Amino acid sequence: MFVLGIESTAHTLGVGIVDADGKILADVKSVYSPTEGGIHPREAAEHHQQSCLLVLKDAMDQTGISLRQLDAIAFSQGPGLPPALRVGAVMARALAYTLKIPLLGVNHCVAHVEQARFFSKAERPLVVYLSGGNTQLTTLESNRYRIFGETLDIALGNMLDMFGRAAKLAHPGGPKIEELARKADGTYLPLPYTVKGMDLAFSGLLTAAKRLLKEGADLVTVCYSLQETAFAMVTEVVERALAHTQRTELLVTGGVAANKRLREMLQIVAKNHSARFASVPPKYAGDNGAMIAYTGLLLQREQIETPLSASHVMPKWRLDQVKIEWH
Ligand code: ATP
Ligand code: FE2
Repeated sequence: MFVLGIESTAHTLGVGIVDADGKILADVKSVYSPTEGGIHPREAAEHHQQSCLLVLKDAMDQTGISLRQLDAIAFSQGPGLPPALRVGAVMARALAYTLKIPLLGVNHCVAHVEQARFFSKAERPLVVYLSGGNTQLTTLESNRYRIFGETLDIALGNMLDMFGRAAKLAHPGGPKIEELARKADGTYLPLPYTVKGMDLAFSGLLTAAKRLLKEGADLVTVCYSLQETAFAMVTEVVERALAHTQRTELLVTGGVAANKRLREMLQIVAKNHSARFASVPPKYAGDNGAMIAYTGLLLQREQIETPLSASHVMPKWRLDQVKIEWH
């Protein structure tokens, strides 16, 4: 049994292939990076169109199997940028139709969570999903990922990327900010800290950090202060959620999970609450086709197929709208 997964929600066109046990046989990607400004949806789609066949071919070549040996085609059906999503959807429909095999529409957020669960072998974790488009605290309860807390404005990764642009760092800003913050001497500049119950807000923090830059503050010190503040906010809500849910596993996933300082802070809070800390491997923290293939495998096992007539992209499809049949 082989499932091929296609990721195309935002910046990444990825193709992954897994076997019946979820083992990754191939994971190839091409990432669109805007020359300036944020991701332009149509430019991202253009990039995906140009790279999709090369990425597909590379992935197939790595596995040594032929297209005819595939058992199902999974694709990111949402959420994401409509023009970018459509490229993956068209590719998936064409493959499933020609090969006469099932088409599986995967929710991108569910895929980040499921792949992290697969690697960590976490059973019933409190999940922190931190990425370019999402900032969510979630646990699985009676067949749904329930959202405990989330951002009220922009996502954590998006905030870091916007600050990165203001500081003229290359896109994406997150990894560059981490690198700079590591050079800091511990000087902390106070910044707005916004936690409302279990929810977070980052735009005030972003505005204030950009203002510090404009006023001539040292970039390394601002990066450090920005990270410390934003990650402390996340850690606070995670701590409250751990105390409330009494979960004994904490799992972090999404692009920002690659950040060492964030992982260190969450590790401490997990330890204080006697919870096992786990994180998606940094290599798979960002968008990848393998996570779509793996979630497709979970759907395939439950025989949850997506007919062509229901394979339209869903740009606003939320994590908590998906019925989880496989745990
Ligand atoms: P979503 O999953 O919500 O649709 P996305 O697909 O755009 O969002 P991912 O690829 O999962 O996002 O994550 C990308 C984000 O992760 C970017 O905002 C990027 O800056 C951030 N990121 C990547 N590496 C790091 C790092 N080391 N530190 C902080 N942020 C990071
Ligand atoms: Fe993502």
